[in-house]
Amino acid sequence: MKILAIESSCDETSAAVVEDRTVLSNIVATQIAEHRIYGGVVPEIASRRHTEAISQVCDEAVAEAGLEYGDIDAVAVTFAPGLIGALLVGVNFAKGLAMSLGVPLIPVHHLRSHIAANYIAHPDLEPPFLCLLVSGGNTVIAEVTDYTKFKILGGTKDDAAGECFDKTARCMGLEYPGGVTLDKIATVSDFKKYPLPYPNVGGEYDFSFSGLKTAVINTVHNAEQKGIEIDVPVLSATVRERVCDMLIDKTMKAAENLGYKKIAVAGGVSANSELRRRLDEECIKRGYSLYFPPLKYCGDNAAMVGAQAIYEYESGNTADSSLNATATLPIDYR
Ligand code: KG4
Repeated sequence: MKILAIESSCDETSAAVVEDRTVLSNIVATQIAEHRIYGGVVPEIASRRHTEAISQVCDEAVAEAGLEYGDIDAVAVTFAPGLIGALLVGVNFAKGLAMSLGVPLIPVHHLRSHIAANYIAHPDLEPPFLCLLVSGGNTVIAEVTDYTKFKILGGTKDDAAGECFDKTARCMGLEYPGGVTLDKIATVSDFKKYPLPYPNVGGEYDFSFSGLKTAVINTVHNAEQKGIEIDVPVLSATVRERVCDMLIDKTMKAAENLGYKKIAVAGGVSANSELRRRLDEECIKRGYSLYFPPLKYCGDNAAMVGAQAIYEYESGNTADSSLNATATLPIDYR
């Protein structure tokens, strides 16, 4: 089944043609350069750019797959969660396209598609497994009991891990997207130079990152007031260390308590070099299998939407022209 998948939940307009777990094409038009001027994503600009790019991106995806629109068997689209105006562009385009082609329309949850990025690169990966989902807007530990069945074990009580990276990077003067720049600039160092806290929350598998973010902002402001220069590579490394400690500690605890030996990581923050290195080390020690998406599928892209869409379709999840975009929706929605 050849699925044309569309993604427009944030600042990438993307279309891909995917057949089962094979990516025939994946076109991504990124808006990063434009949002960089503002230090973050401006929702109104994002929506406008999606509107301008979407037909061209879809045309390119179909052509690069060596196909014509008539060869497409279904249209899949990210419908939730994300920036509402951005999602609406993809959803409305997909509805019109599916209707005009006379093919099924498949709604795909954004976080489910991040997990499916792993299916593209790892043909052996099948549920059940444990998943750590870390993106700019979400941080969740979930059991993937089947391709479309999820059990949330815990998540962030405030900021997402990616948001913590982005905001702390921004206050240190690093370029947007901050998480990427912070990861590049961080140097292995004396982690005692900046005594940042380990925020603790009640739930066994829950996280809190806003206290860490505030501590970094206070550290930077205090230094500015006293005319002391911040050692940005060291502070970046300390933030990264704290975030990784929290993510790895709770993921390993969940795997141990629930008996999972297969762990997948997904979302933009899964590109973090230290998270990859340390999780790999921990999993080797314990004899667990660890799955990461290839770097090119860590950020937002439509190939991962297509990879999840086949399973949504097989489970009967199709939509009609009443499909709407939704800004927030848990991964285990029914
Ligand atoms: O999954 P994603 O592309 O968008 C959402 O669905 O949210 O994630 C974007 C997030 C941003 O916060 C970005 O800074 C972060 O992923 N990110 C990273 C790295 N690469 C991307 N964070 C830390 N280290 C990285 N190497």
